[in-house]
Amino acid sequence: MLDLDEYQAALAALDWQVELGADEAILDAPVNRYEAAAEARAAAPEPTAPLPRPGPPPVPEPDHVAEAEAAARAASSLDGLRAAMAAFERCELKRGARNLVFCDGDPSARVMIVGEAPGRDEDLQGKPFVGRAGQFLDRMFAAIGLSRQDGSLYITNVLPWRPPRNRDPSDEEIAMMRPFLHRHIELADPDFLVVMGNISAMALLNRRGILRMRGIWSEALGRPALPMTHPAYLLRNTAAKRDAWADLLSLKARL
Ligand code: URA
Repeated sequence: MLDLDEYQAALAALDWQVELGADEAILDAPVNRYEAAAEARAAAPEPTAPLPRPGPPPVPEPDHVAEAEAAARAASSLDGLRAAMAAFERCELKRGARNLVFCDGDPSARVMIVGEAPGRDEDLQGKPFVGRAGQFLDRMFAAIGLSRQDGSLYITNVLPWRPPRNRDPSDEEIAMMRPFLHRHIELADPDFLVVMGNISAMALLNRRGILRMRGIWSEALGRPALPMTHPAYLLRNTAAKRDAWADLLSLKARL
């Protein structure tokens, strides 16, 4: 408790400070205003993003596979199917190709070979398997008495257009063109299918790994199907020719 003298002295000291301009109460320790501002910003709630304005309703992606299925189903002959494929605009490969490669050989043959896709020579001539691999394919099948010239072989590919720089077709491209291939097989109605290479195995048997599958009879579209290594592979890997010969003999035995 202050006595009167002390009280008067304290009051006089306060008056004196007010007169000097110290008219605001301050703290014992200094405050860092920069830190305080940063803490306040950190504690503030996140600004919320403005709500997007409603745009036009999304346009559904066209279903290219469904379109291909409808076009293929509508074809009632091989000529009709070729025309339907020529009119199909959804596969980008068409833009880079010179020709549609549809088939060669005799559509009434008992054996139908399904290759992968045209290369440069096939693109130029509009026929499957006419380049180096094709000439080797002809020699392979001639060895068991089959030829595209004498009515005993019919040949097509999974893709009718050459992929740029002979790259492997994508899964989307295979899926898009598969309905046409299935219809092609239905219309030609062969007794046996030869599934040549990985792309054909994917399109017809839904599997890759031709080196494991080759020579093992399977079934595609309700008919016997023989997976074989592609002649282009055999040209590069001569040691694999022996297995291919065994596969050809297996086909001959079935015929
Ligand atoms: N390879 C294929 O798979 N098909 C052809 O037509 C030519 C080369």
